[in-house]
Amino acid sequence: MATILVTGGAGYIGSHTVVELVKAGYDPIIFDNFSNAKPAVLDRIKQICGRRVPFYAGDIRVYDQLAQVFAQNKIDGVIHFAGLKAVGESVNKPLEYYDNNVNGSRVLLQVMRDYGCKNFIFSSSSTVYGEPDALPLTEQSPIKRANSPYGQTKIDIEYMAQELQHAHPDFSVVLLRYFNPVGAHESGLIGEDPQGIPNNLMPYITQVAVGRRECLSIFGNDYPTPDGTCIRDYIHVVDLALGHVAALNHCLDKAGVHIYNLGTGVGYSVSDMVKAFSKVLGHELPHKFAPRRAGDVVACYADASKAKNELGWVATHTLDDMCRDAYNWQKNNPNGYDD
Ligand code: NAD
Ligand code: UD1
Repeated sequence: MATILVTGGAGYIGSHTVVELVKAGYDPIIFDNFSNAKPAVLDRIKQICGRRVPFYAGDIRVYDQLAQVFAQNKIDGVIHFAGLKAVGESVNKPLEYYDNNVNGSRVLLQVMRDYGCKNFIFSSSSTVYGEPDALPLTEQSPIKRANSPYGQTKIDIEYMAQELQHAHPDFSVVLLRYFNPVGAHESGLIGEDPQGIPNNLMPYITQVAVGRRECLSIFGNDYPTPDGTCIRDYIHVVDLALGHVAALNHCLDKAGVHIYNLGTGVGYSVSDMVKAFSKVLGHELPHKFAPRRAGDVVACYADASKAKNELGWVATHTLDDMCRDAYNWQKNNPNGYDD
């Protein structure tokens, strides 16, 4: 089976994808600098998979560290998760974001070109669509200038990879635009472990549920939506991981640029999320309404039919599954991988 280099494979989405790659018979190799991950995740992956997954400590911005992996292994394809992802932080640290994300991706693509590895799968985001003109979002929806350096790095990397593919037509470039990944592996062994105060909704909710935080603030209840709170397309991280396996199965050595939305196609409001989570919890999650958060789009959900028709992939986990698995992970690991 094919050997797949997984940059950022120790992170939240990367670790779940590594597990599904092993299950599907691929041979993943993890490459990560642990800037936003803990080494403990490697043991957890081993527990789930029943074998250790090869691992290199390194930084994608350092050519020689990546080149060493390609020199020592025949890499058939790369799934590229490594990067910085905190939207708010990117506004204060734009140069760090362009360096890590755009420059890091440039070095990675250069190493791939030099070693004749032609399969590239990239973690893009629905953030490239900005404030939607129409819903649901299809892969043809216009790309808008991002309202954060983080979002702009996603757009820049998408263009860079496509331009490389035009220059080297035998490349297969897959751009996967994720909607809102949540949840955790059903074993409760791996999950999302943000550093500091969570920026994103689900980790904030789970930390309130286990008593690490007092109360969820719902940012805005005066939006033009049925209940006044923002709408998103939440997708279980295991479905997202399986989307990568489907993309590999379909696009490996298929020259061209392939773009897919990975979402469920269903939008839920923040209040829907609180209700669904409260059901799993068995009592109401403490929450209050707070002012809108700058930069939030009102509503965003995918048309996921292209991935269904071409990759044969659909998200199968329900909102209840997402809440149950996120809570299970947090309950078993109240302090994340630090336990
Ligand atoms: P994460 O922070 O958990 O994982 C990223 C991993 O990359 C971490 O393990 C980190 O240590 C590693 N890393 C960062 N910079 C590196 C570098 N220079 N060299 C080597 N390793 C490096 O994030 P995640 O949620 O798993 O996201 C993975 C990818 O998916 C990111 O590119 C992110 O932008 C993208 N994405 C995430 C979301 C989301 O909501 N989580 C949504 C859309 C897109
Ligand atoms: C955020 C990023 C987006 C990125 C995505 C990855 C911003 C503006 N956008 O999207 O670029 O691609 O993460 O998943 O940061 N909410 C609360 N209270 C909280 C936290 C969140 O009410 O404590 C609300 C938000 O206002 C939003 C929804 O929950 O309506 C989802 O928020 P979040 O999980 O941060 O994701 P996005 O904003 O969709």
